[in-house]
Amino acid sequence: MTDKMATLTIGDNVYEFPVLSGTVGPDVIDIRSLYAKTGCFTYDPGFTSTAACDSTITYIDGDKGELLYRGYPIDELAEKSHYLEVCYLLLYGELPTEAQMIDFESRVTRHTMINEQMQFFFRGFRRDAHPMAVVCGVVGAMAAFYHDSLDISDPEQREIASVRMIAKMPTIAAMAYKYSIGQPFVYPRNELDYAANFLHMCFSVPAEKYEVNPILSRAMDRIFTLHADHEQNASTSTVRLSGSSDANPFACIAAGVACLWGPAHGGANEAALNMLRQIGSVDRIPEYVARAKDKNDPFRLMGFGHRVYKNYDPRAKVMQETAHEVLGLLGVENNETLKVAQALEKIALEDEYFVERKLYPNVDFYSGIILDAIGFPTSMFTAIFALSRTVGWIAQWKEMIGDPQKKIGRPRQLYQGQGSRPYVGVDGRG
Ligand code: SDX
Repeated sequence: MTDKMATLTIGDNVYEFPVLSGTVGPDVIDIRSLYAKTGCFTYDPGFTSTAACDSTITYIDGDKGELLYRGYPIDELAEKSHYLEVCYLLLYGELPTEAQMIDFESRVTRHTMINEQMQFFFRGFRRDAHPMAVVCGVVGAMAAFYHDSLDISDPEQREIASVRMIAKMPTIAAMAYKYSIGQPFVYPRNELDYAANFLHMCFSVPAEKYEVNPILSRAMDRIFTLHADHEQNASTSTVRLSGSSDANPFACIAAGVACLWGPAHGGANEAALNMLRQIGSVDRIPEYVARAKDKNDPFRLMGFGHRVYKNYDPRAKVMQETAHEVLGLLGVENNETLKVAQALEKIALEDEYFVERKLYPNVDFYSGIILDAIGFPTSMFTAIFALSRTVGWIAQWKEMIGDPQKKIGRPRQLYQGQGSRPYVGVDGRG
């Protein structure tokens, strides 16, 4: 409970509401009784000042540019951990012992294949379908195949559905890629680690031997870790809202995939690389910076700005270091796109418009440069983001389902439409 109270005065009436404190971060005003007491709603389009839940999974300090997964700083996890260990941490709250890691890795590995019948579902799409359209459809279709993990009231079934999602997303994303380039699907190879298996399913072909490059595999694994979870962002909030109606886990994750696709959210990595390529050279940067500042021009610097970070996104810092490392190791360090990105970042961070609005590069600004160097087309970037974020969506969904305060999410509105009026026949109109 709390001894701090917030006082609200409406007209002649004074109301008091408890102020709750978390472990770290801003206090919240508990307004659950506001409507009953005052007959008023709060008004917060875009939820800029609204906490929709309490959570113990991820914490962001936007002013410090800090991101913690279960308390561990993202830069330490990116350097010292690996994605499947981060999945365990996000799902169960603690870093695994060696035995727990072996068991978890074995459970995930045993679920990497998808039901053989699902390949025909893929074949219903046009070959030029965007991979996110395919991933969104196939993830939702999992509810048509895995009937033994749909009952959200059964903790066992929730656990199986969680492991299945984490295990199968790389297979589904890789199949969407293969389908888009007219190559045969490649089955997972369980002797490979999570990131290597994904690269193998994307880039190997039956006609020849394929060895996963360890540099690329390590970079891939780090990208997965950097994208794994991020508090109550738009797609995670979509998953929670879907889950609040007791929809099955596959339907909830498909809803998250759909929301992530937007260029204002996870689709920004694809849009950012396309923007850097459109700029093309350092001398054209001023033209685009001017467009980004022009209120009459819808153009924005993709990969820049963030609702929460008003400092450098810590993931972007690790991503930039990784881009340098991977391009250097691949012998393509004089990559023109990276040069444009770095020059654009420097110019923007010295420009009053961006400084005033605290607009910094976010996770999507450099990730595309690495994914491009690894060999992915831009159309696959957001599908890779979705693959990485699946564990975060699942962890948040499980937390919500297990919350004794769980209620169906049902926001209200400020109605600005017509008041009640009688029907008018067609002769009386116009
Ligand atoms: C992700 O929420 C998360 O955690 C998301 C994410 C995750 O891990 O889940 O971090 C992943 O989605 C990262 C963000 C990727 N999106 C982009 O890079 C797209 C470009 N960025 C913007 O669209 C924007 O910055 C948002 C959507 C990210 C944030 O928008 P907000 O918080 O609603 O801020 P806003 O749109 O109200 O902008 C505030 C001001 C405005 O100017 P004024 O009206 O005050 O004059 O900043 C300007 C905006 O015009 N602005 C930009 C800009 N971003 C904001 N101007 C130019 N270029 C930009 N990129």
